[in-house]
Amino acid sequence: MKLIDGKKIAEEIKKTLASQVAEIIDAEGDPPHLAAILVGDDPASQTYIASKERACKSVGFTSSIYRFPDNVTQQKLMEVIDFLNDDPDVNGFIVQLPLPGHIDSNAVLQRINPAKDVDGFHPVNIGRLVLGLPAYHPATPAGIMMLLEQMKIETSGKHCVVLGRSNIVGTPISILMSRKGTPGDSTVTLCHSKTQNIEDIASQADILIAAIGKAGFVNENMVKQGAVVIDVGIHRINDSSEKGYHLVGDVDFDRVAGKCSFITPVPGGVGPMTIVGLLINTMKSFRKEIYK
Ligand code: GUN
Repeated sequence: MKLIDGKKIAEEIKKTLASQVAEIIDAEGDPPHLAAILVGDDPASQTYIASKERACKSVGFTSSIYRFPDNVTQQKLMEVIDFLNDDPDVNGFIVQLPLPGHIDSNAVLQRINPAKDVDGFHPVNIGRLVLGLPAYHPATPAGIMMLLEQMKIETSGKHCVVLGRSNIVGTPISILMSRKGTPGDSTVTLCHSKTQNIEDIASQADILIAAIGKAGFVNENMVKQGAVVIDVGIHRINDSSEKGYHLVGDVDFDRVAGKCSFITPVPGGVGPMTIVGLLINTMKSFRKEIYK
């Protein structure tokens, strides 16, 4: 079994980004700028935004956060999005999800200029991804593809089973894995809450991507000997440690790891690559690589 060290791979990519930023500063002055809109005080969202800030700082990007209370109006969010769409100093921005129930998340995401949608959640970017046109790819699927590429994991003709059909991970990764290319060219099965015999299907996977949002859901009976297992889950489990909790994924690592050829740990697997995906999209926006 080989551990996929996402933390190390992410650090290497960040080093490359940092040297590119140094060159930009030498030549032109201003580094890429990533902004974020954060509503409310959801702990997972706070953590994500804090790591995004740290990552921006570590590569030399400018980072800004627009914070709003839970009761912010949709109109106000639309105004901030319009402001960021028009601000030439901002290369890309994200609206942290989930948003409170009174806000129409789809309407908010669709207000973002696709050229600044570095989360890749706008229908234009999703549509372009499906068609294989230049697009911002959502950060977590992009991070998973980078891990498969870096580890030189064969995906062509393999059976890839994706657990979970979210717009953020399951749906886009299923499309990326089935598209022509490397990584890609897989035969993909997308499983979800209504799938029958999910254990049976998962256990046929050469590559199993768990993004189902249930701690320890994948056990050893759901994994074929020699499979590649990518764990997208991240859950806090309270314990008596100094921190008061530890993190686990959607995969029961201790029971599954022995059967795998490759497996991502939690933490330190997919998580650090998600942030890298976002930084890369911001750099692409800065360089006008996707939208001229
Ligand atoms: N909430 C959970 N994951 C994400 C993400 O990748 N982007 C945003 N904007 N919100 C999220």
